[in-house]
Amino acid sequence: MKHLTGIKELSDSDIRALLDRGHEYAEALDQGDFRSERLKGRVIVNMFLENSTRTRTSFEMAALRLNASLINWDAETSSLKKGESFGDTIRTLGAMRPDAIVIRSAEYEAPHMVAQMVECPVINAGDSWREHPSQALLDTLTLERHFKTKGLSGMTIAICGDVSHSRVAGSDMQIFTRLGAKVRVIAPPFLMPNKFPAQGIETFTSLEDGLPGCDVVMMLRNQKERMNEDLIPSDAAFHRQYGLTHERLTLANKNAVVMHPAPMNRGVEISDEVADDPQRSLIFTQMRNGVPARMAILDLLVE
Ligand code: CP
Repeated sequence: MKHLTGIKELSDSDIRALLDRGHEYAEALDQGDFRSERLKGRVIVNMFLENSTRTRTSFEMAALRLNASLINWDAETSSLKKGESFGDTIRTLGAMRPDAIVIRSAEYEAPHMVAQMVECPVINAGDSWREHPSQALLDTLTLERHFKTKGLSGMTIAICGDVSHSRVAGSDMQIFTRLGAKVRVIAPPFLMPNKFPAQGIETFTSLEDGLPGCDVVMMLRNQKERMNEDLIPSDAAFHRQYGLTHERLTLANKNAVVMHPAPMNRGVEISDEVADDPQRSLIFTQMRNGVPARMAILDLLVE
């Protein structure tokens, strides 16, 4: 495991090692007084060519928790604005010998391209609509911690909403099925992918049909920035048909939990009451677990 380009490229033992290290860091952080010299003297470059709150900050937090130094490279103030090519930008940063590059880009397989141009580990922090593997690892860590399991056998997980434009769904479908869960996709026909990156995915076009029997309901934002046309002219109409409300959540299993990679569009794919339900919503727990999951990734790839 030199790079983290996608769940697809990880072996089962890589996934288990990343999750196990994530559990160790999550427990250590829960103790409240975390100090580590694990990556002391290492320099990580965060390269975000798309907006981010959670991923960027939690990679930064993870690097600092492990005593690495971090450079937040900024596209807006870089020489990309003077016409330098992306390839020359990557070669330039690679020539400075960072210990890892964390990259988010709208370009398909940008992390693969970067990995071919530099010597250090490259970590995918979100690649087009294709994969978001660190999100999938933190989602799985969250489920294993909540249900106190190793693996996801016996669970039925529904991924709902704009699946066709979601890199989170792309990575989650792979990791959830590889760890033994049954995965359902619930989406309107115009947001249903033509094919899936994992076997055995069941599809439904309504929450009413797809939610019964589910242990986990993962909601997704409508990713309008990746749509070529206005597929969702009315957010209110979308909410009426596909928004997760408490009434709809009662269709799932009694103790089913709600997840969302966020950012959320409240009142569109999810109601305020469900998003903030202290018993059912794991959404802010996911964000918390982003730090130990990313500490594990940096630790195992950089150290
Ligand atoms: N879940 C996620 O990737 O959030 P950000 O876009 O804020 O990083």
